[in-house]
Order: sequence, then C-alpha cells, then structure tokens
Amino acid sequence: MSKKTILSGIQPSGKLHIGNYFGAMRQHIEMQDKGDAFYFIANFHSLTSLNDGKQLYQNTIDVTLDYLALGLDPEKATFFAQSDVPQVTELAWILGTLCPVSLMEKGVSYKDKIAAGLNPNIGLFTYPILQAADILIYHSDVVPVGEDQKQNIEIARDLAGKLNRAYDSELLKIPEDHILKSVAVVPGTDGRKMSKSYKNTIPLFAEGKQLKKVVMSIETDSKGLEEPKDPDTDNVFALIKLFGDKAKQDEIAEKYRAGGFGYGHAKLELLEMIESYFGNAHEKRKELEKDLDYVKDVLREGGNKARERAESVMEPIREACGIIRSF
Ligand code: ADP
Ligand code: TRP
Repeated sequence: MSKKTILSGIQPSGKLHIGNYFGAMRQHIEMQDKGDAFYFIANFHSLTSLNDGKQLYQNTIDVTLDYLALGLDPEKATFFAQSDVPQVTELAWILGTLCPVSLMEKGVSYKDKIAAGLNPNIGLFTYPILQAADILIYHSDVVPVGEDQKQNIEIARDLAGKLNRAYDSELLKIPEDHILKSVAVVPGTDGRKMSKSYKNTIPLFAEGKQLKKVVMSIETDSKGLEEPKDPDTDNVFALIKLFGDKAKQDEIAEKYRAGGFGYGHAKLELLEMIESYFGNAHEKRKELEKDLDYVKDVLREGGNKARERAESVMEPIREACGIIRSF
C-alpha cells in the first residue's frame, strides 16, 4: 500500500508561540515519520490580515527556521511556501465557481470576525476556498489540524464532491480530517487561550530576560507565599504540565498544596523547564540563521516537489473544465 499523504499549513502572521507548538507543530513534526508529509506556509492566507510585505517575507523565513530548528526534516517532509505552487490559486478559482455564497456565509471564523467589528475583505470571506485548494491539490488523505479548523476541512470535502459531480469524474480525492486532541488548549499569560491576537503569548524562541519577563507576567490569584494553593486552577501549573514528566508534575503539585511555595517560585520552575525543553532548538536555530541560503534551498526544493504533485492533479481538472492553456 502506498503511503498516505499528510498535509497541513500554518499562517506566517506573527511569531510562533508555545500554543502553536503543543497544538500543532509538535504533531506535524512527529507525523513526518508516518506518511508522505506536506507542510506549507500559508502566506496568501496571511495577506487577509497582514499588509506589510517586509514583515510577511520575514515571517515566512522565521516560520521555516522555527520548524527546522524544532526537528522538521526536509528529507522526510516536503516543506514549502504556498506561493510556490500557483496551481493552488488556480484551483481555488475553479472551486469558487462551484461554491454557493451561502456556504461561505456560514463560516464560523468569518462570522466571528464580523462580530468582533472587523470590516471583512473578500479574501477573508473566501479564505476557506483557498484552504480547500491547498488540501485538495495534492490529493491529500489526512489533514492534521486543531479543532478550530474542523469546519474548513468539511468545506474542502464538500467542494471536492461538488467538482467531482459537476464534471462526473473523480478529479479530487475526499480527505479526512485528523483533529489533534493530544493537548488541551494552551493558556496564555492572562489565562485566556494563548493567541497572537490576544497578545498573551510566550514566544517559542524568546530567551533570557525577554523570556523571564513574559513568564513572570503570567496572571495568578493573589494568594500569599505561605498559603496552600490549588494547582488545578492555576495558569502557571497548566503550563508546567506541558513540560514536566508525571513525577515532576506531581512533585510541584504537592508543593502547591503544602503552602510555603509562592507563584514566583512556580514561575521560576516553569522558566527552567521551558529553557531546558527548547534549549537545543534555540541553539539549532542560531546555527540555521547563519545559513539562510540553506533555509531558502529547503523552501525551493519543497516548492519544486509540491508543484510537481499539484500539476499532476491540476492537469486533468483543466482538461475536464475545458480550460485552454497555450503555453
Ligand atoms: P493564533 O491564535 O495565535 O493566531 P493560529 O490560529 O495561527 O494561532 O494557530 C495555528 C495553529 O496552532 C492551529 O492549528 C491552532 O489550532 C494551534 N493553536 C494556536 N493557539 C493554540 C493554543 N493556545 N492551544 C493549542 N493550540 C493552539
Ligand atoms: N487556516 C489554517 C490556520 O489558520 C492554516 C491553513 C491554511 C491550513 N491552509 C491550510 C491548515 C490547509 C491545514 C490545511 O491554522
């Protein structure tokens, strides 16, 4: 049996944080051994919220550095930029012609943004169509994503079926989602979901004073040093749980309950755990930063491979739709 195609994407719209790592990146990296993995940087998607060319370019390089430093192996997984595969936007247009406006109007993320008072652009409205093209253009089998992406995968399945029925041919494969449930929602420094839009993140590659400042700013209740504390309702402990093994977690939980252990102490434990967990990745990233040509080569080679696969899926679609290409 041939290997399953695994595909996922991440937007380069800001510095990646430990919520992104435990919620998505770690599993992406683990899954590179479990199939034919394609991971890409969704830079066209980021244009719906970021209009600063220098920043978007830099974020794209940064995400690549982050993944490589954390263990993505370009010999195993194809890692590339969405924009290196023009077939994606071509397929997105065709899928758009088959997509009822009402399907986009039901988009949860779109509705949330309107409710939050954002003046939406068309790119944001049709975001799920581009995402569907991302997935379908490689005949992906499995799409590992967080719970928040479930609706978008459903839309991709729906649009694949519509194209296949419209042209009465199995032009696209219907993918499965793979909801990453291995981790709870990672809380941010204010206790809400860690998210760059809430400005409550612990950046993955922060170090030294900068990291210490963020960790020390985590909000807790106002119990004094001597008072016993409940680890299960505390933000610092929720983060400690991500890093420590069971024995270490139990040991710290015991200190919480016993009293005489302040939140400042807990934060220092957390700081040490973060530093040791990501220490190697930080060193590796510094090395990679010195060799940006290598980093760009990874993107180029990944793009070449992805484009070749995409073209083999796109060609029969053009033919079925009667789209002429004279070059
Ligand atoms: P942000 O909320 O910071 O904008 P994204 O929406 O770009 O993050 O998330 C990228 C990926 O990281 C998604 O797969 C999402 O499920 C995961 N993710 C983001 N924040 C968290 C979190 N706090 N806990 C767990 N997973 C998260
Ligand atoms: N919408 C995804 C997110 O915000 C990013 C994304 C774009 C994606 N295209 C994709 C994820 C295709 C999986 C498959 O996290």
